[in-house]
Amino acid sequence: MPLAGRHVISVADFTRDEILHLLDTAAAIAQGPRRELLAGKIMATLFFEPSTRTRLSFEAAMLSLGGRVLGFSDPGSSSARKGESLADTIRMVERYADVIVMRHPRDGAARLAAEVSRVPVINGGDGANQHPTQTFLDLYTIAELFPELRAGRCITVCFAGDLRYGRTVHSLLHALCHFACRILTVAPRGLELPEQYVAEARAHGIAVEAVPSLHEAIASSDVLYMTRLQEERFPDPVEFEHIKASYRITAAMLAAAPPRLRILHPLPRVGEIATDVDATLHAHYFAQAANGVPVRQALLALVLGALR
Ligand code: NCD
Repeated sequence: MPLAGRHVISVADFTRDEILHLLDTAAAIAQGPRRELLAGKIMATLFFEPSTRTRLSFEAAMLSLGGRVLGFSDPGSSSARKGESLADTIRMVERYADVIVMRHPRDGAARLAAEVSRVPVINGGDGANQHPTQTFLDLYTIAELFPELRAGRCITVCFAGDLRYGRTVHSLLHALCHFACRILTVAPRGLELPEQYVAEARAHGIAVEAVPSLHEAIASSDVLYMTRLQEERFPDPVEFEHIKASYRITAAMLAAAPPRLRILHPLPRVGEIATDVDATLHAHYFAQAANGVPVRQALLALVLGALR
């Protein structure tokens, strides 16, 4: 099915072939973007939650292809503050823009927006639920680093950190179900991967195994996907501080790591990766963030029908 006109709400809405087509389009665009591809198109960014990378890389993607952007990054400056419903906000914005990128603190908000919108809605993260465009750039990055992923040979991906509330983990795990891989998890107690995600991966024949420590994860993974503790979704601040102190990776811990290990992180990091890791050959999170631009360029071009 063509991607033109489609909403991008959950990774589950996309087939393996559609995801691979998006990654191929991103790789082609990265070779030399076409500056007028989206001329005359307008993208609205409605960010009801903080963002740096997602919003700015969407804007960079749109501007670099000749499109224009409008929107808000602080809901306090929008009519949501006056009590306007999300549905009414969308009914207005769809008249101002050709595509809407939205981030919202509530699970399911993007789906609700898509139900009322006549223009494509792209989910920039809804609560602890999904973050599909982060997944597309994560997969693009993993496939670049480990071509065996696309060749059908198994790689080991370890998810570490807040696997309960981290929406990037939930989305990426879903996408990895299309590929041969082994999943490891390491999470502080109480923040383990919800059972539904474990069950889903296993239903696709993917082995999911909890490992006891970051040390073990470092020794046994190709990709170590670190995540931040999602403080804003955490019910108990005292418990949060306690867990936070126990969970951190440093350069010293990587001294005996397998050379092929690469550390990814959707960012922002808030202490779980020490800055001395940045200079190691394992650090790949800033290159990962840079991939957000070609992947979002490709997604916008496909959804807006400028590429097929
Ligand atoms: C992530 C998010 O918003 O879920 N950030 C991002 O988009 N790169 C991860 C996070 O906030 O921890």
